[in-house]
Amino acid sequence: EKEILTLGIESSCDETSAAVLRGGRTVLSNVISTQIPIHQKFGGVVPEIASRKHIVNIMPVIDEAVRQAGVTLTDIDQVAVTYGPGLVGALLVGVSAAKALAFALDKPLIGVNHLEGHIFANFLAEPTLEPPFMALVVSGGHTALVDVRGYDTFHMMGQTRDDAAGEAFDKIARVMGLPYPGGPRIDALAKEGDPLAIDFPRALEEKGNYEFSFSGLKSAVLNYINSEKMKGHELRKADIAASFQHSVVEVLVEKAFDAVQRAGRDTLVLAGGVAANSGLEARLRERAAETGVRFFYPSRILCTDNAAMIACRGYYQAKHGDFSDLYLNAVPGLGL
Ligand code: KG4
Ligand code: ZN
Repeated sequence: EKEILTLGIESSCDETSAAVLRGGRTVLSNVISTQIPIHQKFGGVVPEIASRKHIVNIMPVIDEAVRQAGVTLTDIDQVAVTYGPGLVGALLVGVSAAKALAFALDKPLIGVNHLEGHIFANFLAEPTLEPPFMALVVSGGHTALVDVRGYDTFHMMGQTRDDAAGEAFDKIARVMGLPYPGGPRIDALAKEGDPLAIDFPRALEEKGNYEFSFSGLKSAVLNYINSEKMKGHELRKADIAASFQHSVVEVLVEKAFDAVQRAGRDTLVLAGGVAANSGLEARLRERAAETGVRFFYPSRILCTDNAAMIACRGYYQAKHGDFSDLYLNAVPGLGL
């Protein structure tokens, strides 16, 4: 029996991506066209420009994904697309392209939640992974601990009350004069700094609390930078980056392992763009080794926005008969 080919499409923020998946876990292609250089001069993503670029890129990216997979469009069995959360204009481009293709090819359409896609990147990275497991989702827009009880059963343990972890990384980098996106820059700077140089606050540290809050930390770092500037001091950027990152990482690691224990899980996975953070990954790996918890995280390319993870999530939804109709719309504030 022929294995199902799923075309995945992702356009929720500043990456236009298309991928072809064979079965649930074999990536035949994963084409990503990033707009980062375009948005860099504005210090962040400009939604209107993002939508326009997605329109220009979407069909060439889909064609390239199909070509790289060594198939043709007519071989595709189903089309999976991110319909939220994200920027409405950006989402609409992917959703419209997916609906047009599904209609023209007369193949099923599957609307995918972007956050679930990030979690499912781990199935691509680790062939032996099966639910149940705990997922720490840390992206530019979200920070959450999700108990993945089955392929279609997710229990939200807790999420951020205010800023997402990635948002804090980007904001602090911006104030230090580093280009967008700030996460990777802070990560690199932090390697040269002292994580204990400055004592930044940590929020909601009590055990059993799985909510996050990063706005207080963000303000503390911004205040520190302003007061240093006012005193005419040279900014110790590496120490600021290292101390800030340390504060974020410690909170994420403590809560993640507390949640693993509370839910009685033996496996933890990392998901979302901030999963690419080397300090976070190192600390989680260390704690996992100490506690005997299995720990997986996707490769860099599968951590940040990509369509392979969307195709993977779509494949498992389709297995459960969870299809969308051609009225599928973008839902910018879609939750888990
Ligand atoms: O998941 P993602 O690609 O987009 C969203 O769905 O939000 O995440 C992007 C976020 C940005 O905030 C970026 O600064 C952050 O991930 N990021 C990092 C690193 N690489 C990307 N944050 C910290 N360290 C990194 N190495
Ligand atoms: Zn994302």
